[in-house]
Order: sequence, then structure tokens, then C-alpha cells
Amino acid sequence: MKVLISDNLSEVGVKVFEEAPGIGVDVKVGLSEDELVEVIGGYEGLVVRSATKVSSRVIEAAGRLKVIGRAGVGLDNIDVEAASRRGVVVMNVPGGNSLSAAEHTIALMMALSRNIAQADASMKEGKWEKKRFQGRELCGKTLGIIGAGRIGRIVADRAKGLKMEVVVYDPYINVEVLERLGLEPVSLDELLSRSDYVSIHVPKSDETVGMIGEEEMRKMKGGAMLINCARGGIVDEDALYRVLKEGHLGGAALDVFSTEPPGKIPLMELPNFICTPHLGASTREAQENVARQIAEQMVDYLLH
Ligand code: MLT
Repeated sequence: MKVLISDNLSEVGVKVFEEAPGIGVDVKVGLSEDELVEVIGGYEGLVVRSATKVSSRVIEAAGRLKVIGRAGVGLDNIDVEAASRRGVVVMNVPGGNSLSAAEHTIALMMALSRNIAQADASMKEGKWEKKRFQGRELCGKTLGIIGAGRIGRIVADRAKGLKMEVVVYDPYINVEVLERLGLEPVSLDELLSRSDYVSIHVPKSDETVGMIGEEEMRKMKGGAMLINCARGGIVDEDALYRVLKEGHLGGAALDVFSTEPPGKIPLMELPNFICTPHLGASTREAQENVARQIAEQMVDYLLH
């Protein structure tokens, strides 16, 4: 049996395939859709991160394919419906990079509050703008977390360590469960109006695309800050530009964009906007975790 790895996967994962009896592995990164269509017929397994788009065309051409593994959480680059129609199992590894994503969220919240990115850029231009970059403390502020799954819960825990008040909105989790976790469940409207910082931790779906639009941003406190390390498109980028430009929100940080890479979008002209190129899961630890876990799951499935 053969497995194709079509995105950069940590060596740890490649090794799991290499050591599995009866499984051969090829690593071919950067294939176009046409190239993938051409070669996929020779493989029982396909491993991707987020760069490879596993379209229905790819799946139609994959006569021997049994399993697609996503070394990460989000499945939005895989046509799961087309795979299911062909009886191809799609698996992900939900927990492996949660900690890294949560830590990146905290890093962006701190960077926003203390103007780290802007002050760094200013100093590298030879300036010394102490007054311009006065920040604010996180202690005692309220963080509103939208989505209290794995990542949202870690963010809540770290925020409490910083002595922040935490409120959460998650209509899919039982109120008693949230309360047992020490989280205060509130409605979305209450979260928006009470929070000094709002951070999003929901998957991308029909229900969540555009979830934070202009109306929601205007319900946020004046000067509040918005962070999205979940998926692009959940925050309306055009609305965010307007609301930041007129100063209703104090700042925003995006790690994810409706189109990735986004190119030079208008938001990037604003001094109260900072961004990173989908780095939430980009740590050595997280990449080793997801690579090892997806490889073990796929070997298990293919052999047993
Ligand atoms: C994920 O879905 O696992 C993360 O967003 C990381 C990634 O896409 O690489």
C-alpha cells in the first residue's frame, strides 16, 4: 500500500509511515491540482495540511484511495462530501495543535495591548516613540471567548492566569458543563457588549461565516479589541476595516483570512491592525504532534 504526503509534514510523521510494515510513502510537496489528479490513482492514503486542496476532481481520480488524513483540525480544504460518496474516510487530529493555537491567541492579545508590532516597526525606522505606544493592562479586563471547545478552553485558562474575567458564548455546550469548567456562559450580545477583548474559536461553517459582521462589531464596547485565530471569513474583513478606521474598536489581530494568502488588503494600512500568516499551529511541538498522530491513525486504518 502507498501513501502520498502532499504538504510539508514533520519528519516524525514520515517516519511512522516508513516504519509501518507493507506501507510505502512518497513525499511530493507543491503539486498543482492537475499534477495531483495525475498521480493520486497510485495511492491508498493521502496526507495533507492546509495547502493541498483535495477537490472532488482529485477524489474522482483516486481509484484506490481509502483514507485522507489532515495533519491538523480544519477540513475546509477537503471536499468531505465527495470523499464520503466514494467511501473514502477523512480523518483529522483535533487536539494536536490546540495548545499552540491558544498560545498564539494570547500572544496576539498581548501584542495588541502593548503595541508590540507597531513599536518594533517604529524602532527599526530609527524612532523612539514612547508616548505613542502607551498600552493597556490585561489584568481585570474581560475576555469574551466565542466557542468553548478545546482551544477556547485553553485560552480561557491562560487568561484567568493573567487575572482576566472570562465570559464565553457557545450554544452547543451545556451550561452546566461550562459552569463546571469555571466559565461564565452568556449570550453573544452580552459577550460583545461586556468584553474588552473578543476572541473567536469556532470552526468555519455556513453558520459561522460572517458571524462577526458590522452589526456585531458595533455592539462591542468602544475601544475593545478583536482577535481571530480560528478561520478566515468568520470576521467580515471589510466591516472590520470600517470599524477600526473610524476608531470604534481599539484594535484587531487576525491570524486567518477569508482568502489565504490575502495579499495587501486595506486592513493592513491601519495602525491598529496587526496580523500573522496563519501561524496558530506553527510550532515545532504542534507540527510533531499532528504529524505523529495522523500517521498513526492512518497506519492503523490501512493495516487493521
Ligand atoms: C488547523 O486547522 O489545524 C490549523 O488551522 C492549522 C493549519 O491549518 O495548519
